[in-house]
Amino acid sequence: MIEARAVTARLIDGKSVARDLENEVRAAIAELGYQPGLVAVRVGNDPASELYVRNKAKKADELGLRGRQLVLDESLSERELLAEVDRLNRDDEVDGILVQLPLPKQIDPRKVIDAIDPAKDVDGFHPINVGLLHMGRAALVPCTPAGCIRLIDSTGVSIDGANAVVIGRSDIVGKPMAALLLQRNASVTICHSRTRDLASLTRNADILVAAVGRPLVVTADMVKPGAVVIDVGMNRVDASFADRLAHDEEKSRLLAKNGSVLLGDVDFARVREVASWITPVPGGVGPMTIAMLMQNTVTAARQRRA
Ligand code: GUN
Repeated sequence: MIEARAVTARLIDGKSVARDLENEVRAAIAELGYQPGLVAVRVGNDPASELYVRNKAKKADELGLRGRQLVLDESLSERELLAEVDRLNRDDEVDGILVQLPLPKQIDPRKVIDAIDPAKDVDGFHPINVGLLHMGRAALVPCTPAGCIRLIDSTGVSIDGANAVVIGRSDIVGKPMAALLLQRNASVTICHSRTRDLASLTRNADILVAAVGRPLVVTADMVKPGAVVIDVGMNRVDASFADRLAHDEEKSRLLAKNGSVLLGDVDFARVREVASWITPVPGGVGPMTIAMLMQNTVTAARQRRA
């Protein structure tokens, strides 16, 4: 009798795939002969946003773009922010504008996104770019889902004709992820909090993308053997999670050492015994997002200055 043997999934190394993309961006900038300009706008002092915006500006400089942070006061009015966006729209040296979300409560993010020149919208959040994406005509595509596609491609597994399931329907990840997979000829199912019998759908997925924002939602019994699993989740949990993590030696060790640990939406330790490829958290999707933003800035510069 042949004994069943657990096969551990191969890791998709986001850092390495991001490094390759960054090298492409460097080469593209050298070819342009000028430095595309990227402005990352932050309103207020949210610590996570502070880190993200700083990292975006820093990476831009590192790759040969002109990266700048525009830091505005927490009490800024919506009208004042719209005036800043207008100034950046008109500034010919600025090729890419991103306004870090979330914004303080007095500001309607939709009005701000609508105000960004679609040609400079390197987040791909403007309704014009969203419309183009859904028509398969997009140039500026949201960075995180674009990064996920690149990670899937790095495995060599074909998206064409695959059953793809996306869990999560946000405008930033879930919806554009589904559109990109559809563009690549996957049969796409979008699941969300009202989905009935989630596991019956996810078990059919050759490619499973988890973008829920809740730790350990995707368990091994929900994953088709041999699936490619992309984990977009970034959930910091504290010691109250220790029991639910007892089976994961590595995460348990980090939790005991640091008092908190970063988890994805996927139960990595168990799902890796079922999947063929899986992204770790951290070190999977995260590094791709900023690299894609840099590529979008080069694309925006090329198109706008053509
Ligand atoms: N907040 C969380 N993710 C993002 C993103 O991709 N872009 C912006 N601008 N804000 C975010």
